Amino acid sequence: MKALVLSQENKDRLKITDLERPILASGQALIKIKAAALNHRDQWCREGLYPNLTEGVALGSDGSGTVEEVFDKKDVLWKGREVIINPAMNWGDNPAAHSPSFEILGMPSNGTFEEYVAVPVDRLVEKPKHLTSEEAASLPLGGLTAYRALFTCGNVEAGKKVLISGVGGGVAQFAFQFAVAAGSEVYATSGSEGKLEKVRHMGAAGTYNYKNKGWEKEALKETGGFDLIIDSAGGDFMNNLLRVTKPGGKIVFFGATTGIPSGLDLRRIFWNHITLQGTTMGTDEEFNDMVDFVAKKEIRPIVDSVVPFENIISQFDKMQSGKMFGKLVVRF
Ligand SMILES: NC(=O)c1ccc[n+]([C@@H]2O[C@H](COP(=O)([O-])OP(=O)(O)OC[C@H]3O[C@@H](n4cnc5c(N)ncnc54)[C@H](OP(=O)(O)O)[C@@H]3O)[C@@H](O)[C@H]2O)c1
Repeated sequence: MKALVLSQENKDRLKITDLERPILASGQALIKIKAAALNHRDQWCREGLYPNLTEGVALGSDGSGTVEEVFDKKDVLWKGREVIINPAMNWGDNPAAHSPSFEILGMPSNGTFEEYVAVPVDRLVEKPKHLTSEEAASLPLGGLTAYRALFTCGNVEAGKKVLISGVGGGVAQFAFQFAVAAGSEVYATSGSEGKLEKVRHMGAAGTYNYKNKGWEKEALKETGGFDLIIDSAGGDFMNNLLRVTKPGGKIVFFGATTGIPSGLDLRRIFWNHITLQGTTMGTDEEFNDMVDFVAKKEIRPIVDSVVPFENIISQFDKMQSGKMFGKLVVRF
């Protein structure tokens, strides 16, 4: 079966190859993948910037498809069902933080960038009916991360002023859509005027281009500051976010795309009683709640583009360029 694996053989560090179809073990199901979506994690793996990389492993954390086979008789009712896969494995018992054996599908185990993937049956969730296979494939990792960041960590609710930083990102777009659906007053930043224009049509109360010097002063003047900020850019940009956080407010972050801050304004953090909270993906319960929320509110993930699997490397290149708005998807 065809698969995209990590490989040092060529300059792309990626290779489309043939892998053996997985042989199921007890507790597992075999999914015939219809569509799969990229996350920045896949690009970090390509660039060698992810821990514990293994050559020859199929990347990909997000996918949707049909259950082809199950190992155990008790799971037979899953056969033939349209599913999405929860890529967060072995979270553990503590809802506050994941266990040391936590893993993400698609490194170190083979992921969704292959025709058939074997996963534990307890990772399967029925595909929300209002979504196409491509939209459903876009949802798992980004939807889960955004849901926990906003609801569990950020206690988002109607009327709160929420800023989504770098709204063009895969996770950020979900945070934006979920916060709007929760009735919050949602603002966004982006480095692209085109993306800001798009979110104004999707219900943004205000938008700011983080490439414009002094954007944070303008935002503070216009809004009085934000109760909650969701960020994954990190870097020195974090000090601008601190300036626009209301006293008693919170910044929830799950990435450091632009690196570690060279200096952090600690005085502003303690004087204004600001909470900085890190988060990573989420629990199984949060995954189920996220899918229910998406189904109830009929939220449709924003899909930037869908290409045939054979062109998957062009989607990696697009992610590297940052030119996408929404998820980058491949169809098998
Ligand atoms: N901890 C976790 O569980 C978890 C889960 C998912 C992702 N992540 C991490 O979170 C980050 C985003 O992931 P993703 O898959 O959403 O990536 P992505 O789709 O590639 O999005 C990256 C976005 O970052 C934004 N950005 C770049 N520079 C920025 C800046 N100075 N200020 C604000 N935004 C900036 C851009 O937004 P604009 O295009 O709007 O400018 C860009 O679209 C990555 O570092 C990823 O590894 C962590």
